[in-house]
Amino acid sequence: METLKVGVIGTGKHGCRYIDHIQNDIYKMELHSICSRKAKPSDGSFRVFNDHKDMVRSDLDAVIIATPTGTHFEIAMDAIEAGKHVLVEKPMAVNSEQCRKMIHSSRKNSVKLMVAQTLRYNPTIIKLKQMMKDHGPIKSISMEQHLEPPDREWLYNKDMAGGGVLLNTGVHIFDTIRSLTDSNIVPRSCKIDNILNKHLDDVAFGSFVLSNGIEGTFSTSRYHQARRREITLKFKECEIFADAMRDFIILKEKNDINFVKVTGEKRAIVPLLEDLRDSILKNRPPSISGKEGLEAVKTCNEFYNLS
Ligand SMILES: NC(=O)c1ccc[n+]([C@@H]2O[C@H](COP(=O)([O-])OP(=O)(O)OC[C@H]3O[C@@H](n4cnc5c(N)ncnc54)[C@H](OP(=O)(O)O)[C@@H]3O)[C@@H](O)[C@H]2O)c1
Repeated sequence: METLKVGVIGTGKHGCRYIDHIQNDIYKMELHSICSRKAKPSDGSFRVFNDHKDMVRSDLDAVIIATPTGTHFEIAMDAIEAGKHVLVEKPMAVNSEQCRKMIHSSRKNSVKLMVAQTLRYNPTIIKLKQMMKDHGPIKSISMEQHLEPPDREWLYNKDMAGGGVLLNTGVHIFDTIRSLTDSNIVPRSCKIDNILNKHLDDVAFGSFVLSNGIEGTFSTSRYHQARRREITLKFKECEIFADAMRDFIILKEKNDINFVKVTGEKRAIVPLLEDLRDSILKNRPPSISGKEGLEAVKTCNEFYNLS
């Protein structure tokens, strides 16, 4: 296989980003088709399907699932059973059981299953991971991610969203903490609340301990306009604060405060698609596997059970 033929399912905000990058930025990847419930047939360079079941039976190699969380499981299972490689958006699915079935089926059908935990490509988080090596073991970690209220109807609908901010934003937090610390998260306490979203949680905060004994906290919300994505790490001799929204890091050591401006590729979908392509064309495990997606969803489920 020389060039990977890819189909994008869901042509909303995020699906359109994939379509744009596949067409313009990714070598050895071609947009085979899109699947949209409402799009009309195209006379352009790619095909249009209105039903994902027809798309996965066509002659493409891989699909990208950029639809509401509650639809990921059914679409992914149909694609995997049709022998297609899958990149599924985060959260991988609404619960651990669905994630496990997806992993099992991808192994049975010998296809790649990758999860779009895009913060792994955030330049500040990459830089933070490098800096952590210079300061010894961490003593504590805390992460916050706050976004504006959702403007998608499906994020107010339990069947489509599968959960509120704890699931749909929490997976980013828990995956980032796992990938920074190489440890599993053991939830200890959690509170969720509804401030603007009458149907689903739009505030969540909690505490946890990592499998290596480190203490941590998180908070996330979607009810006010201030966007924040921040990580604070405490070490024996210093503290590191990372702003992964505005791309800077502050290192506080004794009486010194050092400011590090981070640069690098901000468009996470570009390296994500390159990783997907390489894992399929070079037949190697995807850099963010189904198991990673499962761990993030499982942690969310466990925090919900404590709330
Ligand atoms: N990794 C990240 O950083 C990141 C960022 C944003 C979003 N996401 C994820 O990407 C996925 C899509 O999010 P989005 O922001 O692109 O949402 P969106 O703008 O609402 O787009 C979702 C699309 O899914 C399709 N769809 C299929 N069945 C649907 C249904 N029953 N209800 C509504 N839409 C349906 C629709 O496309 P058609 O109308 O063409 O069928 C719709 O436009 C979600 O899983 C989300 O969590 C990830």
